[in-house]
Amino acid sequence: MKKFDKNQKIPTFIEGDSFAILKTLNDKSIDCVITSPPYFREREKNKHFNLNQTLDSYIENILLISREIKRVLKDEGSFWLNLGDSYQKTSLQLIPTKIASKLIEDGWILNNDVIWKKTSYTPTSYKKRLSSSFEHFFHFVKTNEFYYNLIALDAKKRRPNISDGVIKTSSNVTGVNYLKILSDSSILSPIQKGNAIKTLKECLDEVKDGKISDFRFLIKGHNKVNSGNRKEELENNGFIVIKSKYNKPSDVWEILPEKNSIHYAPFPESLVSFPIIVTCPPKGIVLDPFVGSGTTCYVAMKNNRNSIGIDINKDFIKYAKRRCFKED
Ligand SMILES: C[S@@+](CC[C@H](N)C(=O)[O-])C[C@H]1O[C@@H](n2cnc3c(N)ncnc32)[C@H](O)[C@@H]1O
Repeated sequence: MKKFDKNQKIPTFIEGDSFAILKTLNDKSIDCVITSPPYFREREKNKHFNLNQTLDSYIENILLISREIKRVLKDEGSFWLNLGDSYQKTSLQLIPTKIASKLIEDGWILNNDVIWKKTSYTPTSYKKRLSSSFEHFFHFVKTNEFYYNLIALDAKKRRPNISDGVIKTSSNVTGVNYLKILSDSSILSPIQKGNAIKTLKECLDEVKDGKISDFRFLIKGHNKVNSGNRKEELENNGFIVIKSKYNKPSDVWEILPEKNSIHYAPFPESLVSFPIIVTCPPKGIVLDPFVGSGTTCYVAMKNNRNSIGIDINKDFIKYAKRRCFKED
């Protein structure tokens, strides 16, 4: 067995039907829910998810579980819902979009529709169809006062991104294009050009030192600012620099699907680490009501968060426990 230090947060795994187990949890007791329910008509054999269900009853079940999730979630909590689409006969059903719309109608706020772009996928066997390579990862919240700590992510991620001696910002800006625009400019005075190029070098140094993660230049004659102080600043100085201290990741996440698991659809660890680090406070509790191989709880444990994982399949619960509690 793994030896835990006294501060280690050990996951709680519960075998059973989420619809029943969730009812035993207290109101507003959970900080963050991350889950991926069974796909429509896939592999599951239980009352709520089975091969005979209609699309309407599938959507209704997700709606029912999301209401329980809302009840157990704190007001500042987050609900991350991973859903993939599927074909019926020859048409995609837009299942994730239909469910997200229902949840919005039901009072949830949709903060982001993250696209998980799978960097490896199975090519389709259909001649007239592209291979499917993405899933949605919706970020729902109950109120606009939700917990969101990008600084926590930064502490882990804000290291200088240097490849072949070239410094890159978090959105891959190297400064080369800006330098060319500034050098070629026939509008900026020599003093404005000199100041802009000096500022550009300082920005790259700040990225290198981890003081900022990104920056943008607005350059007179190249960019337009229609009104306000910035318009005046651009006119007078010939350029404006906008710095961003924190990483602002985009809503498309390129992540390799997990292959090493007994489970048929495991989360990759890096898919759930952002939600855990950014939307669950350090002493908070993460819940996954369809925990499968236990990835959510495993990553919560690695990031020292408490967690609860529920699954109806006893073999998955056994596997999840082994994964978390055995010496690695
Ligand atoms: C898509 S998988 C989740 C995989 C998980 N994200 C992981 O990292 O392994 C859905 C899971 O829901 C479980 N499940 C299906 N119906 C359930 C129910 N009524 N209550 C609890 N779990 C259920 C299945 O056993 C399956 O492991």
